[in-house]
Order: sequence, then C-alpha cells, then structure tokens
Amino acid sequence: MKIRKAVFPVAGLGTRVLPATKAMPKEMLTIVDKPLIQYVFDEAREAGIEHFIFVTGRNKGSIEDHFDRMYELDATLEARGKKVELEILAHHQPQAGAVSFTRQQSPLGLGHAVWCAREIVGDEPFAVVLPDELVLHTPGCLAQMVEAAKEAGEKTNLIALQEVPADQTHLYGICGVGKRHGKMFEVDGMVEKPAKGTAPSNLSITGRYILQPEIFDILATQERGAGGEIQLTDAMIGLAKAQKFYGVEFAGERHDCGSKAGFLRANIAYAMARPDLRDGLREEMRKYVKG
Ligand code: UTP
Repeated sequence: MKIRKAVFPVAGLGTRVLPATKAMPKEMLTIVDKPLIQYVFDEAREAGIEHFIFVTGRNKGSIEDHFDRMYELDATLEARGKKVELEILAHHQPQAGAVSFTRQQSPLGLGHAVWCAREIVGDEPFAVVLPDELVLHTPGCLAQMVEAAKEAGEKTNLIALQEVPADQTHLYGICGVGKRHGKMFEVDGMVEKPAKGTAPSNLSITGRYILQPEIFDILATQERGAGGEIQLTDAMIGLAKAQKFYGVEFAGERHDCGSKAGFLRANIAYAMARPDLRDGLREEMRKYVKG
C-alpha cells in the first residue's frame, strides 16, 4: 500500500496556548528555530509523501506564506552573501505544485477538518498528521507508519500508539488492543478521553494516521461527539467495523506541543538534541534548576 498524500489539519483555535494563538496560528509556534508545521512537513517528506494538503482556517495565512518563496528575503540574503541561510530556505521549500490548501470554515472538530480534504485526497489511502504532536526520532513516526503500511497490505488503516501512564488515560484517545503482530496490534475499540478508570488499555492514539478513503463517507454523516466536535476517533470506530485497523507502536519521544508544558518540554528536548546548542543550553539550565 503506497501512501502519496498527507493531510495536515491546521484550522483549530489552539485555546490551550492562548494568548500566543490569539493572532498567530498554533502551528507556527517555534520549537528551537522552526515552526511546528515545518517539522511535520519534513517528517512527511522523509516518509515519501508527495502531496501535502493543509486544511486551514481564519488567521492561518502565515502558514501559506511560510511555504511560499519570499523574493525580497532571497534577494537581500543573496546581496549580503548569506549562502547558508539561502540553502536553509531552499531546503525547506516544497516542490512547486506539491502543496494544496483548503479551508475549514468553522472549527467543528478534527474529523470535520479531515473531511474538508476529501476532494483533494480523492480515492486513495492517505496519511493524517497533527502538527501539534511531534515525535523526536529518526526515522520519523510517519516513516515508521508507512513502513508498517507496506506490511499490512491493501485496505488497511493504521494508527500510531504510545503508552501513557495509567492515571493519564483520560486525557487521550485510547485504543483497545487485540492480537499482536510484531510492532502492530489488532485494534479492538477506540475511545476518546475515557472517564478515569474505564480505559481499555494505556495505549494512546498519537497524531499520525493512515486511513482509507472510505473514512470520508462516514465523516460526511458523523454526528458531534466529545466536546461537541466532529471527532475523527468516532468515524474511525465506524470504519473499523468494515475494514482492518492496526495500531503501530512507534519508537520515539512524543511531545504534545499544543499544551504549554508540552511546548516548553519540546523546546528543551529538541535543543538538547542539537550539537550546536546542547552544551550552552546545559550550562544555562544549571542557573534555573536547583538540586
Ligand atoms: P486540537 O485538538 O489540539 O485542537 O487539534 P485545537 O483547537 O487546535 O487546540 P485547543 O484544544 O483549543 O488548544 C489538533 C489538530 O487538529 C486541528 C488543529 O489545528 C490541530 O492541528 N483542528 C482541530 C482543526 O483543523 N480543526 C478543528 O476543528 C479542530
């Protein structure tokens, strides 16, 4: 099963990190020196994705600008002989025609955002990547999923899973699991933010999915679920009744950059992974960390 297209839902309001997201998209928040959206774009490119579909909304124009060429900046860098900076910009630039933007006119939920991409995805399996969840690992989380998809065969859906502490399952989408095949589990039920003590496992659904296009038919009539939003998890529960669904336990550290604590932790983790920043940061941190 080849996965050519990835959908990036970026139309949410980002209320958990207000006021940062009042006038700026959450997906443009910076981890070290790159916006979140660039990390997931790079992750998708590494996984062999050829077409990048962004579901945007109001106030999200800077995401489009980020993936465009900025002639004035290029010209100024050129005139100043800033070759390294020019190379960095060129490296992060998508190929012409490889990016599409569509709009979710109201933030009705993740499931609705994915549905908004149906015409651009068409009738083929596709990936969904949530930009506010980063996984620090090489190969990236999506590359691991795409590899698993090759093994899983046609008409199979995959979700990325990672263990969370048992007392935190109520904060996540949780997956019930059946038989294990290597790194893959048969999915036996999914539940969005289960009440404390009711979770079927401690495997949380992370923001990377490989889905069959039949999900769009289900999303078209999906009713509002948790939080009054059209939930992707609810539609996946419907699809799992008709098609194979596997959970993939991926390698790497997951960072929820949509929360303030997660965002700060990600900045430290990604900076500490950088040879050019690690030593200086460790010194600086000593001033703030006692004991
Ligand atoms: P979140 O669940 O983090 O929601 O969305 P949110 O609205 O962005 O943030 P909070 O919870 O209010 O702080 C996960 C991803 O799905 C997108 C978001 O932009 C984010 O990338 N999303 C969410 C949409 O595109 N549309 C929606 O209606 C909801």
